[in-house]
Amino acid sequence: MKALGIDVGGSGTKAALVDVQTGDWLTERLRIETPHPAKYEDLLEALQAIIAHFEWSGPVGCGFPGVIRQQTIFTAANLHKSLVGSRLGEAMTKGKQPAWLINDADAAGLAEVRFGLGKEKPGVVLFLTIGTGIGTAFFVDGKLVPNAELGHLLMQVGKGKVMEAEHYAADSARHRDELKWPEWAKRFDEFLHVIHALTQPDEIIIGGGVAKKGHKFLDHIDPPCPLHLAQLQNRAGIIGAALAAAERVASR
Ligand code: BGC
Repeated sequence: MKALGIDVGGSGTKAALVDVQTGDWLTERLRIETPHPAKYEDLLEALQAIIAHFEWSGPVGCGFPGVIRQQTIFTAANLHKSLVGSRLGEAMTKGKQPAWLINDADAAGLAEVRFGLGKEKPGVVLFLTIGTGIGTAFFVDGKLVPNAELGHLLMQVGKGKVMEAEHYAADSARHRDELKWPEWAKRFDEFLHVIHALTQPDEIIIGGGVAKKGHKFLDHIDPPCPLHLAQLQNRAGIIGAALAAAERVASR
């Protein structure tokens, strides 16, 4: 089965047609700038244009950087508040083809667990995406527990100073504060230790943009448990979104 996977990010939105049996991309990746500000109408129009670009009439899955419950968007921390309360997934296909909206980290983690490193890993795996924000997804014996939002944990980051983890340790914080990799790694390591102490996963897998930059920071962290870089790197978001849509269709 094939499905179109779309990954909405804070800066770019990416899409490709995916063979959901193998996880392979069947087309080139399309990348557009995410509308800024990403108001509901503008993002909807962008998603509809992506679907039209692929001339695709089958299932469409869309990874979104926020909490999605029962297909309704509950949070959109790095996008626009007009998205909250909307049902973007159904709207993007105008109800004419199967559509499925899923949290972006949940989507990427699903792909990694199915086709990449997390394959058949028993126990609790915590998957992280590090980019504009910090996305987190838990897998228990390969099954997703959706909508973990550990990137919004409040961390003590200095005397009397508390910050949201993603404002302190996401890749966007590295850019914003012009940190050298070892400086950023120190912050990321603090974050890893806090979330590990609170949730005790057996393993951590790191995805998102920084998964390609392991050589820049791995030597500067002291992980609290076995930690790996995602095999699918930043392809995972698209593959996982497609997979989630296809599985939804199959289960009907
Ligand atoms: C959002 C998460 C998302 C993460 C990565 C956070 O700001 O709240 O839902 O997974 O960013 O995009």
